[in-house]
Amino acid sequence: MRLIMLGAPGAGKGTQAQILAEYLKVPHISTGDLLRVEIQNSTPVGLQAMEYIRAGELVPDSIMIQVLEERLRDPDCSEGFILDGFPRTLSQARYLGTTLRRMKREIDSVVNIDVDQQLILGRLAIRQRTDDDPKTVKHRLDVYHRETAPLIDFYLREGLLRHIDGDAPEDDVTARILRSLD
Ligand code: C5P
Ligand code: MG
Repeated sequence: MRLIMLGAPGAGKGTQAQILAEYLKVPHISTGDLLRVEIQNSTPVGLQAMEYIRAGELVPDSIMIQVLEERLRDPDCSEGFILDGFPRTLSQARYLGTTLRRMKREIDSVVNIDVDQQLILGRLAIRQRTDDDPKTVKHRLDVYHRETAPLIDFYLREGLLRHIDGDAPEDDVTARILRSLD
């Protein structure tokens, strides 16, 4: 199973991706977590990514593609994966399609978790990440609408999109996702 989780920051992508990964027995690939590890280890990628993340900007495609490509080469990805946080731009989505086709693999489904913006602001306000301060959150939401939301249409056209109302308790959202994948 190869899945992509889409949704605004705070929509619950990461939470659901983690639950689904255990259930489907495939790795959960959070590109945000991968970047945070790179930053902790002060790697060249981490040092480059740091300023973008702090400002709520997107890390350039070239860096993100490098991070993802390396992770996809790990043997645990051969049977599938759940992508959380990638792709975030149309060019990342096109790159992913090309790469998987070259590997004779393909995306099975794209799950878009839809949550009301007010609810998202409430959720992010209680998270403890350094890029969750109100000003950065506002900017990340703007960036999401500009750069990432167009992916909904992109995957709709590819016939892969599953639309999930994420405005419900965690377990209900998981159940909705699993039903949509049947
Ligand atoms: O996915 P997550 O919200 O954990 O990502 C945290 C930050 O990492 C994003 O706000 C962004 O700055 C950066 N990021 C990115 N491109 C990605 C994934 C994460 O720029 N594909
Ligand atoms: Mg996350």
